[in-house]
Amino acid sequence: MKVSHLTVSNIAKKFGKNEVIRNLGFTVERNEFVSILGPSGSGKSTIFSLIGGILTPDKGTIRLDNQVINGKRGFISYMPQTPSLLPWRTIVENVLLGQELQGKKEKEAALEMIDIAGLSGYENAYPDELSGGMKQRVSFVRALLSPQPIICLDEPFSALDELTRIEMQKWLLSIWEEHRQTILFVTHNIEEALFLSDRIIVLSNKPSQVAAEFRVPFSRPREESLYLEDEFLEWKRKIYYSLKKTGE
Ligand SMILES: Nc1ncnc2c1ncn2[C@@H]1O[C@H](COP(=O)(O)OP(=O)(O)OP(=O)(O)O)[C@@H](O)[C@H]1O
Ligand SMILES: [Mg+2]
Repeated sequence: MKVSHLTVSNIAKKFGKNEVIRNLGFTVERNEFVSILGPSGSGKSTIFSLIGGILTPDKGTIRLDNQVINGKRGFISYMPQTPSLLPWRTIVENVLLGQELQGKKEKEAALEMIDIAGLSGYENAYPDELSGGMKQRVSFVRALLSPQPIICLDEPFSALDELTRIEMQKWLLSIWEEHRQTILFVTHNIEEALFLSDRIIVLSNKPSQVAAEFRVPFSRPREESLYLEDEFLEWKRKIYYSLKKTGE
């Protein structure tokens, strides 16, 4: 599986008079898990649309390894906030969708991941037979098995209740710690960013720039008990103030 690094340099984006992004730059190294934390409307989803080539920046460059991918599609595996499974396809057919679009199909690997995701027995079920958390897992397995070298996750757990959310975070970490793909993750939730990431990028209000950047010091594998440790709470406070400052 190919794993790449991403370099976003000095990008800017306006929608008419609405200046959403100004001189934004950051990197995501190979095998790194980076979270973007920012106020609502700061342009987080827009950043994903730019990286995914659905939108083109007015200025600046987006590079995957050393290739400029401004406005180019197909390089990013994207998991949207809502799972967006195709209702007429079974679970295994949904999981294979990302690969199919690139002209290949590895059913064995898909079945294995479905099993690891705790969904065995549901391979041939349809999405509406699954709970919200199960659909999220299918959507994540699909993103993970897509052949693109970087995965972008846009607030994937925001619709879940607190306990399911923590279960999903633990599950995501256990899989990621094994595969170590490059992940760019967007969230509103400070604890989620701290629990999952190697690095956290805090965005300013619109027009967004990088307001602060933190390297998360906790070792891996990470356990749920980390949530209650003093050092974790200290970091939560630090990032909370940094986020609050950007909103003033
Ligand atoms: N396709 C578009 N056309 C016009 N304006 C857009 C478009 N996409 C986003 N915007 C504007 O860009 C700004 C940033 O939106 P975006 O969805 O990127 O924010 P966000 O940080 O993802 O917010 P949230 O946390 O609420 O999801 C908003 O003012 C929005 O109205
Ligand atoms: Mg958004």
